[in-house]
Formats: sequence, C-alpha cells, structure tokens
Amino acid sequence: MQIQYAERIRTLPPYLFAAIDQMKREALLKGADLIDLSIGDPDIPTLSHIVDAMKKAVEKSEHHRYPSYEGMLSYRKAVADWYKERFNVELDPEKEVISLIGSKEGIGHIPLAFIDPGDIVLVPSPGYPVYPVGTKFAGGIPYFMPLKEDNGFLPDIDSIPEDVCKKAKLMFINYPNNPTSACAGTDFYKKIIEFANKYNIIVCHDAAYSEVYYEEKPISFMQIDGAKDVGIEFHSLSKTYNMTGWRIGFAVGNKDILAGLGKVKTNLDSGVFQAIQEASIVALKTEDTVLKQIRNVYRERRDILYEGLKNAGFALKKPAATFYLWVKVPNGKSIDFVAKLLKEAEVLCTPGVGFGEHGEGYIRFALTQSKEKIKEAVERIRRLKL
Ligand SMILES: Cc1ncc(COP(=O)(O)O)c(C=O)c1O
Repeated sequence: MQIQYAERIRTLPPYLFAAIDQMKREALLKGADLIDLSIGDPDIPTLSHIVDAMKKAVEKSEHHRYPSYEGMLSYRKAVADWYKERFNVELDPEKEVISLIGSKEGIGHIPLAFIDPGDIVLVPSPGYPVYPVGTKFAGGIPYFMPLKEDNGFLPDIDSIPEDVCKKAKLMFINYPNNPTSACAGTDFYKKIIEFANKYNIIVCHDAAYSEVYYEEKPISFMQIDGAKDVGIEFHSLSKTYNMTGWRIGFAVGNKDILAGLGKVKTNLDSGVFQAIQEASIVALKTEDTVLKQIRNVYRERRDILYEGLKNAGFALKKPAATFYLWVKVPNGKSIDFVAKLLKEAEVLCTPGVGFGEHGEGYIRFALTQSKEKIKEAVERIRRLKL
C-alpha cells in the first residue's frame, strides 16, 4: 500500500525545530556538554501545593469519567475569579470561560470555527507557529504582519492593504510576545478593537506569558473597553505555574466566539481530565508572593544572560516580560549562527526564522536553565569569535 499524506500536511513549511532537534541529537551523540537554551519549557517543577491537590483529586472516582466539554463550572469560576483579581475584568463563568487542553489546542482549533477556505487570517511574524498552521488546516490563508523592532515589535495594522483587511476574518496577536518579548499597551489594544470593528475581524489575543514579567504587570486585552465585543483571550497554566506537561489552559471573552470554538471542541475532544481541573483551581489561587519568587528566579537569569550577551558584543533589549531574549544575529543567517553556537560553544538557542520569515536576523534564548548553566553558557559564548 502507498501511504500518501494529505495536501495540508504536505504543504506545511519544513519544521525547522525538527532540524534543530536533529542537530541537538547529533551533538549529544558526539558527547557534547550541551546547554540547551532553546526550549520554552520551564525547568522549575510544578509547585508542590498543586501536585498535592492533584494527588487528592486523582483518587476521586467521579473524576474518572468523561469530563464536561466546556470545563467544570468550579474551574471556570476559578478562572473568572482570577481575572477579576488580576485584571478587574468581570466574566460570566458559564458563557465567557472555556477550558482548553493547553492553550495550543484552542489556538490550533479556533480557525476551524470561523475560517472558510480562502479566508484570510492576520498572523504576526515572527510568531508562535500554531497561528499559521491552524489557519492552513482550516483552509485559510495566513497574511503575515511583520513585527519590527522600530515599531516595538507591534504589527503596523495601518500598512495592511485594504483588500486584505476586507477578506480577513480573524487575527492573532500575542503580548507579552513570544519570541520578541515585547509588551503591548492600552493604545495598541484600542487601535486593534477599532480595526476589528471596522472590518469585522475576530481578535484572538494569546496571553500565555502575562504572568512572567519583571517590570510593570502586563495588561489583559479584556481590560480594554469593547474587547469582549470583538475577541477572546487565550491563557495557559503552563508558564505561570510550571505546568506545561499537564495540558490545561483556558479562553475567555466573547461568548459567541467561545461557543464557536466549543462547537469544534465537542466534536473533536472530550475536555480536560477533571482531576487536572481540580488541581488547576488550586493553582489559580496561588498567592502572588509565590509567583513573585518564580519571577525573581527568571529575573536573575535574565540579568546574567542579558549582561553576558551584551558584553560579548550582541545587540539586544532587556526583556520586560516572558522568559525569552531576542537577540540580533551578528552576521549571516540565524540557522547558521545557531549551528555555529552549537558547534563551537555547545550552547543551543533557536533561530528566529523558525518563527517566520520576519524572525530572520535574530536568535531566541530561553531562560529555562539554572543560573549556573546560564553563567557557563555566557562564559562559552564570550570565548567565541563572532
Ligand atoms: C505564544 C504561545 N502561546 C501558546 C503556547 C502554548 O502553551 P500551552 O499549550 O502549553 O498552554 C505557547 C507555548 O510555548 C506559546 O509560546
């Protein structure tokens, strides 16, 4: 039998991260003492009070059955309380909150609810690769909005051609931003809302990194007047509570948009294991003093890496949020520079082009290793001839 992949799989761009994985495997096989700063997966374990809550929850037989599609009401209430406390945003837990199997799942599925073949989705570049891939899986066409340094890594929506705006049905934005680490303010979100109303475009704001910050606390898109009329916000427990492996997140906002996403989900998945939802309620109630300790760990690492790279001659900005450093490549292509760093310093980072064409010229470092490892990485990079 001949196995033939569907067009949507065959036409996916080459997955650059697979190439990096290969490079990494080869380096490890050769016995490299690798320091991997390429992955956005916290090295710090899930907080123990959350793990304890999970141990208790997993014993309860009522959680062993299929969960409700939209999430337990108690979980959705905890999300609404979290929003009220963090952002002073009121949400109806019954209609304006939905559970997700990690925010990636919701981001990947939402185009299926709103995009017909040929519709345009506005996607940031560089950006999280799931935005364009989810778009293409739904038959949509991604229109890449360049995030440029001289515009604070915000998309310049005034430069999007009128015919594209008219054909666009949905847009993704993401602040604090992966990979650039930029933050957005009220004026930007107001402009997005105006734009969305003018062209009838659904706004999907991805706020996965809202709790990983070092300066001012990032605002929520939902805080802005009119946001709920045009959009939703995706959130994740992954980065905030070191729960990437648990696969839980949520989306909040416009009830009709969430109902569309919910409709796709009821047909494709059966919700999040209830024991995880119960432990996540405990996670969402974590005192901010505890989260501050986590932020301080990243802050210390950020300062070491930022100073180290700057002293080594790299051009970069100190991130105000996220655990990423977005660094200009001194010369050549980002993938070649990543290969050079790997070969000569045994330090692995991510080439900017992996996040889209407009990420070329940059590399991304993640602060997901201990400060000792980061110090060592800095030492090795300093010894390099750039
Ligand atoms: C910008 C952004 N959004 C969403 C996600 C997905 O997170 P999760 O599915 O773990 O909630 C990630 C993960 O790296 C991310 O970087």
